Amino acid sequence: MAKNILVAGASQLQLKQLMAELTGDWQIQQIDNIEKIADYINTEDFEPEVIIYFDIGKVIASTFWVKLIQSLPPIEWVWVLTGKNPTGFKDIEPWLFDSVNWPVDDDKLKRLISKAARSTQIKRRLEYYSQVDFNRFNIDSYTGKSPAVVQLKKMLQELSGVPFTSLTITGETGTGKGLTAGIIHHTGQRKGAPFIELNCAALPKDLLESQLFGHEAGAFTGASTRLKGLFEQADGGTLFLDEIGDMDIELQAKLLKAIEEQKIRRLGSEKVISVDVQIIAATGIDLQQAVVEGNFRDDLFHRLSTFSIELPPLRDRKEDLYELAPKIIAEYNVKANKNVNFISDEIWQQLLGYDWPGNVRELRNVLERCVLFSKDKELPGEWLQLKERIAATINESSLVRASDYVSFPLDGSVGLADLEKFIIEEVLDKTGFNVSEAARLLKTTRQTLRYRIKKYAISRH
Ligand SMILES: Nc1ncnc2c1ncn2[C@@H]1O[C@H](COP(=O)(O)OP(=O)(O)OP(=O)(O)O)[C@@H](O)[C@H]1O
Ligand SMILES: [Mg+2]
Repeated sequence: MAKNILVAGASQLQLKQLMAELTGDWQIQQIDNIEKIADYINTEDFEPEVIIYFDIGKVIASTFWVKLIQSLPPIEWVWVLTGKNPTGFKDIEPWLFDSVNWPVDDDKLKRLISKAARSTQIKRRLEYYSQVDFNRFNIDSYTGKSPAVVQLKKMLQELSGVPFTSLTITGETGTGKGLTAGIIHHTGQRKGAPFIELNCAALPKDLLESQLFGHEAGAFTGASTRLKGLFEQADGGTLFLDEIGDMDIELQAKLLKAIEEQKIRRLGSEKVISVDVQIIAATGIDLQQAVVEGNFRDDLFHRLSTFSIELPPLRDRKEDLYELAPKIIAEYNVKANKNVNFISDEIWQQLLGYDWPGNVRELRNVLERCVLFSKDKELPGEWLQLKERIAATINESSLVRASDYVSFPLDGSVGLADLEKFIIEEVLDKTGFNVSEAARLLKTTRQTLRYRIKKYAISRH
């Protein structure tokens, strides 16, 4: 790939020498008047990866340089020193990729410029992706106009101006906890800083601990190299702890300490490292209940829930379907190269009549399937497959399992405990008595599930 270089301030002789050295896939343009660099780049449709500036001892205020460098898109600067160091060079140096003395060894210069060009490309990519991220996570990315959503957005707006150390997002599966965490970070005061995500249910305790706090080489068997933990990686930014309810109770104590003191120690190290991290925790389970059951620390619960955001289930705000469905269909139209733009009344009836236990995620899945199988502009009703789900949940007369759903009568013949026992048995059966997997499906912790298994004397059969 051709790399573009802008040479500024060089004499004709210097330029000739430079061009002779930089043969190959470099495009070189030159400019005499450094005051015009910004204009040149903005108007000439020439966006260099590297600017090589020949310093011939001309006195220019360092503030001019810093302002200029900051005003340009990411471009690395290589400063060629032809005489003694110019005045104020020390102030400019931190803004440069590197500096070299003239005359310079051919190979050294080529290597340096290649490195600088690569560095520019990476910076541009990062800038692009953070822009994309920012666009993906603005307050309106949370789609909906129902009173509950309007209220929520107002809260998110207010939150964006407030520095906080920790907050909790609660809500059923698929209500947008991950999305909301992203919005809070990317609209808040830490938006330029890292947003680091960790799913606490996905890792066993020891691994989770070393991920969070990091470790030194040799801290335990298997720790062959040093690992910077997520607290350190998120320094200055946000650490998003998803499914916090699944975190081991001993680890919860360490987490609380880290949040309160804003200090951590890598495993196997004595050194205390200061961090500045904002915590967003998300959970699909009732943490207060988990506290009562002894599975979640009271103090951590209080620490995290100073601010708490509860996301409404879709069934309580079905009017949002009118916003959500077209937006999701448009997205899948683009992805699948389709052109669905019509939803019949009959389909609207079905969409509005369904309770959406999997909330927006389920809606996305259903609509994705429909768009993929569409043949023309109409959303195909046969791929909704919502009726069967409704039927499976209401047509039975006693506790039964119908495909992946459980239904039960509301005539008092089935108590809450019967229902709980039945559901646990079914899920354990489905997972081959794998308690971790069953706990995940039931959105609870392994400890809670083990406690219930004992309580109801459920055994493998
Ligand atoms: N209000 C909304 N507007 C637009 N998209 C949404 C909304 N709510 C959720 N989504 C989308 O639905 C999907 C599921 O959301 P998300 O992963 O944030 O849910 P969750 O609450 O974290 O679920 P889980 O508890 O299962 O992890 C994502 O693709 C998300 O972008
Ligand atoms: Mg999630």
